[in-house]
Amino acid sequence: MNLEEIRKDFPVLEKGIIYLDSACMSLRPLPVINKIREYYEQYPACGGRSQYSLGKKVTEEVEKSRKEIAEFISAKEKEIIFTKNTTEGINLVAHSLGFRPGEEIIISGKEHNSNLLPWLKQKEEHGAILQVIPFDQEFNLEEFQKKLSRKTRLVSVVYTSNLDGTSIPINEVIKLAHENGSLVLLDGAQAVPHQKINAKKMGADFLAFSGHKMLGPSSGVLYGREELLRQMKPFIVGGGTVKDSHYHSAEWDESPAKFEAGLQDYAGVIGLAEAIKYLKKIGLDEIHEHEILLNKMMTERLSGKVKLLGPLAAEKRGGIFSFNIKELDPHLIAGVLDKSKKIAVRSGAHCVHSWFNQHHLKGSVRASFYLYNTMEEAKIFCEEVEKIAQHF
Ligand code: ALA
Repeated sequence: MNLEEIRKDFPVLEKGIIYLDSACMSLRPLPVINKIREYYEQYPACGGRSQYSLGKKVTEEVEKSRKEIAEFISAKEKEIIFTKNTTEGINLVAHSLGFRPGEEIIISGKEHNSNLLPWLKQKEEHGAILQVIPFDQEFNLEEFQKKLSRKTRLVSVVYTSNLDGTSIPINEVIKLAHENGSLVLLDGAQAVPHQKINAKKMGADFLAFSGHKMLGPSSGVLYGREELLRQMKPFIVGGGTVKDSHYHSAEWDESPAKFEAGLQDYAGVIGLAEAIKYLKKIGLDEIHEHEILLNKMMTERLSGKVKLLGPLAAEKRGGIFSFNIKELDPHLIAGVLDKSKKIAVRSGAHCVHSWFNQHHLKGSVRASFYLYNTMEEAKIFCEEVEKIAQHF
């Protein structure tokens, strides 16, 4: 990886910021920015509807993008639904599956609100039962096996945690869930941007992820197995979701059309394909290795000086370094880092309030890296964290 060349593609880095918040929102490279601009300048029309040449061009670009994304995760094009973000994808599944009283949903103890609240709603509104499997340093597979029963309709778990970078043993979880006859949904927001995923081989029934965490514009994707999507009713309905409609009836279109209601964020969808091309050019394995290298250095240097969340081995936390310093307020630490060296980190509960509440913690400071971060930046971050730790 030629970091010097890569960094030239990210104009915002010229401001001298040390950007360590890619788990929330990644930066976008020039090819992505230019592709978005191309849409707005050259064919800013509707897709999938209009017969004039600009409209046809949008449809063509959107379908090219769907193909690029499908290939990226080894899925079929009709299994790719464009959404606003991971959250919307999960809500779509929750709503479309529709739960009945007594049906169970298993989640892990380290879920982002986006993979907790849709199920809490199913519990409150439809009487579904929520089972939570402990997930601290590791996901408790034994407990998971015990909780699986004939009532378990769905296992919906985070692939890689946004809180500390730990991952669930996905293959075992999917195998056990399927042997039990349960469906599996993966929150892939922190996994898909950092590692090669083969949806078909992995066998999950649904996989939701976000474009903005993988160099793309604000956008989301929901992968769903073809047979399931065929049977499912749409969530948000409107233009583009039906073959025909009458005053008192409608005939739903096929997937993915029936799930993509109304005009879409065409620039976002088209820009996401460009982001994927960029990631493929650099190589996901190389990116992953680079993140581990930075994380290892930071862990060696800072362990003992800060309270690290998650296991000590950097390999188990990918590109995430989440920590506390004594009893200091995480927001205060983030503020000091920003002021002293323009270091951008996230602080607080990272939308995983339930885990922090369970552990009687207010939150943490989270540094998350991506392909554009350098060892030099990681060292500056360590120096500043050391200063804060010494000072207090
Ligand atoms: N899931 C995003 C994060 O962890 C919002 O920052």
